Amino acid sequence: MLRGKTAIVTGGGSGLGEATCKLFAEHEANVVIADFNFEAAIRVHSELYQLGYDSIPIKVDVSDRESVDAMVKDVINSYGKIDILVNNAGITMDSTLVKMTQAQWDQVIAVNQTGVFNCTQAVVKSMLEQKAGRIINTSSIVGRFGNFGQTNYAATKAAVIAMTQTWAKELGRKGITINAVAPGFIRTPMTAAMPPEVLEKMAKMVPVQRLGAPEDISNTYLFLASDMGKYVNGAVIAVDGGLVI
Ligand code: NAI
Repeated sequence: MLRGKTAIVTGGGSGLGEATCKLFAEHEANVVIADFNFEAAIRVHSELYQLGYDSIPIKVDVSDRESVDAMVKDVINSYGKIDILVNNAGITMDSTLVKMTQAQWDQVIAVNQTGVFNCTQAVVKSMLEQKAGRIINTSSIVGRFGNFGQTNYAATKAAVIAMTQTWAKELGRKGITINAVAPGFIRTPMTAAMPPEVLEKMAKMVPVQRLGAPEDISNTYLFLASDMGKYVNGAVIAVDGGLVI
């Protein structure tokens, strides 16, 4: 479904990003595994290579504009163009409002919010030139409904929705679509940090009675990145098993 397309997946070395790199590669995209954790990106690249798929691992810090610009230059040099950007890199640094430090606030904003701005602004030039492109942003249910202990994270995930809607209005006429996915609770290294009994409790609250798998999200990304999703623009698609209705 993505033959000949070049896709950058930020945070591609773990969890949802890793599943996305693998699925996009299976669908014949040239995959850029862009991650701050370079070893993780190399591991995913090696697995793809053994399966006969084309990919490049790149070390990037999405919160650092120079690092993002260098990544985009590398990708253009390697593949000549960028068709798809999945803004998936994200971090949590949880604390209640009273206890949250300035550093916890600043770092989460820098990666989850400024990172999405940096990567999108850096790739959009190439997409405007070819009058085509797909940008997929990772929000979260907590960006719509908030969550205990996540002032910083929830703020960034709400900002991701606002940026998605703004860019959909600005860029739709230029052949570029922008959408967001709002995952519920998905089994990845990020959620593995939560106590098992809390995860169990969460699963019971989901109407489909389970936590999500990374593939539940990567399949939605694939739909949005492929021709099947070409008329979807500015949407925020909840993929949460019905947790929030
Ligand atoms: P993860 O922790 O497994 O993977 C995140 C990846 O992002 C890691 O490989 C990490 O090295 C990379 N990363 C972190 N900071 C970076 C930076 N500055 N520059 C480049 N890469 C960086 O997390 P997971 O669960 O796969 O999450 C992926 C996205 O999905 C995040 O945006 C997260 O907020 C979002 N999400 C996850 C949910 C879940 O239940 N797992 C629920 C809702 C949203």
